[in-house]
Amino acid sequence: MRRKLVVGNWKMHGSRPANAELLAAVAGARPYGCDVAVCVPFVYLGEAAAQLAGTDVRWGAQDVSPHDQGAYTGEISAPMLQELGCRYAIVGHSERRAYHAENDELVAAKAQAALGRGVTPIVCVGETLAQRDAGETEAVVKRQLSAVIHTLAHCAAEMVVAYEPVWAIGTGRTATPDQAQAVHAVLRAQLHAATGRGDRMRILYGGSVKADNAQALFGMADIDGGLIGGASLKAADFIAICRAAG
Ligand code: PGA
Repeated sequence: MRRKLVVGNWKMHGSRPANAELLAAVAGARPYGCDVAVCVPFVYLGEAAAQLAGTDVRWGAQDVSPHDQGAYTGEISAPMLQELGCRYAIVGHSERRAYHAENDELVAAKAQAALGRGVTPIVCVGETLAQRDAGETEAVVKRQLSAVIHTLAHCAAEMVVAYEPVWAIGTGRTATPDQAQAVHAVLRAQLHAATGRGDRMRILYGGSVKADNAQALFGMADIDGGLIGGASLKAADFIAICRAAG
């Protein structure tokens, strides 16, 4: 049985007072019947760590360098995330693929760097609307995932995968539960073929998950929780989504 996981992706939002309030509310609403984490901007990781220590709410980053150290101005390494107690690092989010030209190989290298330090990569895959309309959804997500599987090799079963259709992110237009389930089933089959443990791996759905659609999505056979953007910034909404998973 896979325990559900709900992860907040704060993106580039927050301020110290707002974060403190949000984290207190999320921690204060425990216990949840699922695993819960927040992926916050790098500069707030120390505060998240301090505020969430001693709770079972985990914290993580939204990106990680593929390098452990060196002359890479502006980058943050997996050893640094490990030092800050991060459980997760999102890699390959479509915003990074689109605005920072991240390709499948770089995403795979980042996942490997994270895993090498005991930080679980949440590997995002997803098609654009044009790709969906052209009937390429399966091919696109399989290609994105296969690069990571290939690089992680025998450790591939340790990652978390997030299916995030690009057309559903921040648009208010969510995939229907059936649309999401269809892609999740494809991803699980691919994971299982590669690792033999696909039935134990968690595949999250992300893209306009809200309190009122979470339950239907999380009720699907291969949807093991969510990666939540906008709704993770409002305590009541995020807590309601976590409850829908539990
Ligand atoms: P959204 O973002 O929930 O605001 O659509 C999800 C994500 O980008 O992870």
